[in-house]
Parts: sequence; structure tokens; C-alpha cells
Amino acid sequence: MSASTNAPLKADALQYVQYHGSKEETYLPAIRQLISKDLSEPYSIYVYRYFLYQWGDLCYMVLFPSPSSSLTSSNSMLIRMTQAHDSSQTLIGVVVSKLEPHRSGTFRGYIAMLAVQESHRGQGIATKLVCMAIDAMKARDADEIVLETEVSNTASLKLYERLGFLRSKRLHRYYLNGNTAFRLVLYLKEGTASKRADGDGRGYAAMENEMMGRREGMMGDDRFYP
Ligand SMILES: CC(C)(COP(=O)(O)OP(=O)(O)OC[C@H]1O[C@@H](n2cnc3c(N)ncnc32)[C@H](O)[C@@H]1OP(=O)(O)O)[C@@H](O)C(=O)NCCC(=O)NCCS
Repeated sequence: MSASTNAPLKADALQYVQYHGSKEETYLPAIRQLISKDLSEPYSIYVYRYFLYQWGDLCYMVLFPSPSSSLTSSNSMLIRMTQAHDSSQTLIGVVVSKLEPHRSGTFRGYIAMLAVQESHRGQGIATKLVCMAIDAMKARDADEIVLETEVSNTASLKLYERLGFLRSKRLHRYYLNGNTAFRLVLYLKEGTASKRADGDGRGYAAMENEMMGRREGMMGDDRFYP
């Protein structure tokens, strides 16, 4: 990656904002575009809605307000791909999460998706987004936060482990593409580790994907979303 494509955006020009359902039309297409670019497996629109309808307040976005003013032409091309429908803003990064009681008895947060536009990585944007999600879950009294990431995703592993996440399990061929994942966990309260009954070898996201797949099979995806 050339230095020019990774030129830092002025930190004070970036806006970190919480998603809200009223912003779906403006931001969801850009969120999908940004996340699907780097995913290990494709998510249907229903997966995004599943998270955003129920836990939109645990989704944080980074927006850049004036894309054309300070960018190189190669950046401008990338930026247009993730242009929010409000054309004065561009989505640079996003984190999507949820929080609910788990069968083990813990109140468990889950970071489902995290992505930063390639040209703006390495500037602490993802770290800040994840910290915002963690803080929001802590404020809601979460016991722990889990997620999965590919064993080969060094950037992601470095980011989460630096924030205190631990590797709790290796999930062989976890993703549809056959790649293996680590499940990572961040304990927020003492004694949470001993409560966990984490026996499902297929993993949390796999179960959700299966559920979403069934829903998609019943309803069809593209009929409802252009
Ligand atoms: C993972 C991702 C979100 C990180 O975004 P980012 O904004 O660059 O992250 P940060 O700037 O906060 O950096 C996080 C850490 O990873 C390190 N890092 C970034 N890219 C790296 C790379 N290619 N190899 C190794 N470490 C890397 C950074 O140096 C930083 O660690 P440091 O502060 O100790 O130096 C981004 O690479 C991305 O969108 N990847 C594609 C989607 C993805 O993999 N999502 C995570 C799935 S769970």
C-alpha cells in the first residue's frame, strides 16, 4: 500500500457516531459495502438488520464529512464506494455488536462485525470503535464480550489482544470458506470465566448464520433489497 493511500485523515475531521434506526437508508448500504469487502463469508441484508434493529445503539460508525476536499484521486475512488446516501459524508469504519443473556448465565456482548476502509487503516480507528462498543456494553452491565476472528488475521488479533481479549477456543474450519477461527473473550467482571458453559463447537456466529440462512431461504434477499 502506498503512503499516499494511507495518508491520515485529520483526526478532528472524523466523526464517531452511534447508529440509529432512522439512519438506515442513509448508512446501511455503506455499512454493507464496507463490511462485505473483507468478510470471510457473505452476510445477507437480514443479518445486518438482525443486529441493527435490536442493537443499533451498539453500532458505531466513523464518518468523514467532506470526502472531496483533502483526498488523492485514488482515495476518492475508494471513498465513493462507501459513500453514505447523504453525499456529504463517507463511511470510513464501523463496528456492529449485540448484547443479550447467554445460556451460561452471563450477560454476553458479541462483536459481530468490524471494518475500516483499507486506505485508512493503521491509524487507531478500529481500536477507538471497539473501545466505544466495549464502553457501551460495560455501561449496560455486560459480564463478558466475545467474538471470532480468523487465525490468520494478525491485525484483528493484535487489536483485540492489546485491549485484553484472550483466546478461548480454536474453531476448526469455522467459516464457510473453510478457514479456522479463534474465539476471543474479554471478561468484564470477576468470576465470569467460571460461569461460562461454552460447549458448542460450531460457534456462536455459525448458529446465527444458519438461522439467518433459513430466514433468507424463506424470504429471498434481493426482492427486498436492491
Ligand atoms: C482489523 C481492522 C479492523 C483494523 O483496523 P485499523 O483501524 O487499521 O486498526 P488500528 O489502527 O486500531 O490498529 C490495530 C492494531 O493492528 C495493527 N495492525 C494493523 N494492520 C496490521 C497488519 N496488516 N499486520 C499486523 N498488525 C497490523 C496496528 O499496528 C495496531 O496495533 P499497534 O497499535 O500495536 O501498532 C482492519 O484491518 C480491517 O478492516 N480489516 C478487514 C476486516 C477485518 O478483518 N475485521 C476484523 C474481523 S473480526
